Amino acid sequence: MTVAVPATSTIDLFSDDVLRNTEAVFAELRELAPVVYLPANDSWVVTRYEDIRDALGDPATFSSRAVAFNEQMNEILSGTSLASDPPQHGDLRAVLTDNLSPRAMRKMKAGIYEKADELVRELVERGSFDGMADMAVHFPVSIVLDLIGVQGDLRERILPWGEAAFNLLGPMNQRAQESLPIAGELFHWTHEEMRGEDLAEGSIGRNIWEAAERGDISHESFGYIVHQILAAGMDTTITTIGNALVLLARNPEQFEKLRQDPKLVPAALTEVLRVKTPTPAFGRRTTRDVEIGGTVIPEGAQVALLYGSGNLDPRKFENPETFDISRNAVDHLGFGYGIHACAGQGLAKLEIHGLLEAWATRVKSYRVGEVVQRLNNFTRPYDSIEITDLVPAGE
Ligand code: HEM
Repeated sequence: MTVAVPATSTIDLFSDDVLRNTEAVFAELRELAPVVYLPANDSWVVTRYEDIRDALGDPATFSSRAVAFNEQMNEILSGTSLASDPPQHGDLRAVLTDNLSPRAMRKMKAGIYEKADELVRELVERGSFDGMADMAVHFPVSIVLDLIGVQGDLRERILPWGEAAFNLLGPMNQRAQESLPIAGELFHWTHEEMRGEDLAEGSIGRNIWEAAERGDISHESFGYIVHQILAAGMDTTITTIGNALVLLARNPEQFEKLRQDPKLVPAALTEVLRVKTPTPAFGRRTTRDVEIGGTVIPEGAQVALLYGSGNLDPRKFENPETFDISRNAVDHLGFGYGIHACAGQGLAKLEIHGLLEAWATRVKSYRVGEVVQRLNNFTRPYDSIEITDLVPAGE
């Protein structure tokens, strides 16, 4: 294969304009070339589904030591499974997955579904509400606090923490700079302030602390694990719930399909994650020169794997922009792929399946009025979603 001069683009992946129009910009990059060099970010973006998946299947070449787009964060995160490579990665991930295993999730299912149903019942009675504050934010916050076993009220602090953690995965632009002190508070809480013995008996947080007390993991790892659950598990889930509410409202025939057959709930979530990928790009660093589609990415380069672009690649998905909950594209990249695939997806699915099932059972139809976006370097959340014209099921 002849080696091509790399395609380049003036796009800044973390500019306000790109955050507002991610899918359109990604389509432009994807059609330009399989690999595009962006001088604004000194990054090489991989734009097409198969190439992204191949890169994720080759962590020896695509190291997670540069999962963030700034050195300071990569350094801080070096003790987490997210930003580590084998063999360290396997040990860090094992403690986390033990506590988020399918078995652990099965035990939590009834409680989470019951809470979801209770929340949806209250909201349906209210009739109109903010889909973000009252549902997408409210629900995961209460679940995750219970899961970690936090006894005091951290509700006010946890949201800015999650948001700051994701802003800081981008380059040190203004959004990231402003997030530094807030993320510092999260780090201080998980590493200094939080006391394992204060976490509720039987909670996942308490179990992990007991593992540290037994010497199975270090006390430092305990802090990192709780940090990861709080940082990685909040904004992603919140964004996805908001996206589901908007996509189902804008595609009422799909909502009707879901109402008629709630067994489609898992497939509906899969399609939400594919069509509007909550974390559309993650970083990697090449450990050697590597050729993709005729372009050589040099050793030591910052790479951006565009999951949100792969998920809309017409080479992989037919009519990729069509939101079709029967598609069930289980090989989407919304949770990543390979050794770093989302370690919390069992919990995320449980929460969102529970909410969607309750929503499809208790609501006949609804609309969204004004929706406002919230700009974040790494996630694509709404700030508010006005839910209107709600007709309860049975009317
Ligand atoms: C819908 C919600 C969620 C989405 C869309 C999501 C997305 C992702 C993605 C794309 C990755 C891969 C990162 C990479 O390739 O470098 C990831 C990793 C991860 N996620 Fe999630 N996530 C969600 C919920 C959660 C929750 C609830 C938790 C924790 C309770 C969590 C914890 C993690 C952790 C610890 C990793 C790193 C795994 C590793 O590197 O081995 N996530 N997530």
